[in-house]
Amino acid sequence: MQRFFDRPDPVPGRGEVLIRVDVAGVNPLDHLLRSGLVDGLDGGRPFPRVLGMEAAGTVLARGEDVDGLEVGDAVFGFALTGYGTYAETTVLSAPNTARIPAGLSAAVAATLPVAGTTAVDVLDQLGLPADATVLVNGVGGGVGLAVARLAIGRELRVIGTGSAAKREHAEGIGVRFIDYTAEDVAAAARELVAGGFDGIVDLVGGTSLRTVAPLARDPRNVIAVGDTSVSDLGGRFVERRVDRENLERSARLALDGVLAPVITAVHPLFEAPAALAAVENGHASGKVVIKVA
Ligand SMILES: NC(=O)c1ccc[n+]([C@@H]2O[C@H](COP(=O)([O-])OP(=O)(O)OC[C@H]3O[C@@H](n4cnc5c(N)ncnc54)[C@H](OP(=O)(O)O)[C@@H]3O)[C@@H](O)[C@H]2O)c1
Repeated sequence: MQRFFDRPDPVPGRGEVLIRVDVAGVNPLDHLLRSGLVDGLDGGRPFPRVLGMEAAGTVLARGEDVDGLEVGDAVFGFALTGYGTYAETTVLSAPNTARIPAGLSAAVAATLPVAGTTAVDVLDQLGLPADATVLVNGVGGGVGLAVARLAIGRELRVIGTGSAAKREHAEGIGVRFIDYTAEDVAAAARELVAGGFDGIVDLVGGTSLRTVAPLARDPRNVIAVGDTSVSDLGGRFVERRVDRENLERSARLALDGVLAPVITAVHPLFEAPAALAAVENGHASGKVVIKVA
């Protein structure tokens, strides 16, 4: 059940800041937390609780021991505090929060903590040289399009899988697209890249991961972002860095246009259930955000 309620502004503790939320990012993790499939990642507060892991907004108050963030700063970051970001105010963890650089919109900044830094991490972990080939399995979603953009910025050759509705966005940024609902993915991929892929980024998991993993030249270069069973296939799970330094780096990349996310839907706060539903079905296009302020 989803409902709206009033709560007093949370009080920031040590190393935390209270922000007025401008924009909140919506992620598959939000519904995993709601359904109880994962726990603890957002501070493990008891239900009923506010969903949302990432936001951009303005600092209203600081707790003790907060470095580098002042009241009035425009910031973005992770709500690892359990207070949730589908809200008018929330508390962010200061070491996992950064200033929004001039020129970057709050909407874009709000998408960077989860999808933006994940894209940076996965490509750093692969460490592929220019002209290498990478298959992005699930290219049409929030992380997939961010990975594809960044990979193209690094001069990699990007092939991506998705359903037909994702073709336009993917091809629009330079991805060679395979429609998994209409084509044999393994056969189509082999036709495009005969000797196997230098890297595979999997955002889907399950049988789809098992279909694409053998397409890598080296199984260690299969990196999964959601499915930890990738290690059974010789691949690796993404190593995440959610600190301020990585947030600042992703913001610079966004400003340079290399990591600009594709925001496909902006919902007002009262439409939060619809925003979550768009992501919950596993077939989201790009990033969905909630505009609060
Ligand atoms: N470890 C981490 O820190 C971390 C961080 C971010 C995300 N994640 C996880 O990574 C996964 C992806 O996140 P996201 O935000 O990108 O999700 P998303 O926005 O929901 O995108 C997933 C995409 O996969 C596509 N897809 C579904 N089945 C597919 C298939 N068989 N073949 C190809 N594409 C398929 C979906 O649409 P179509 O089917 O219509 O193409 C959708 O566009 C989620 O499981 C999320 O929880 C983990």
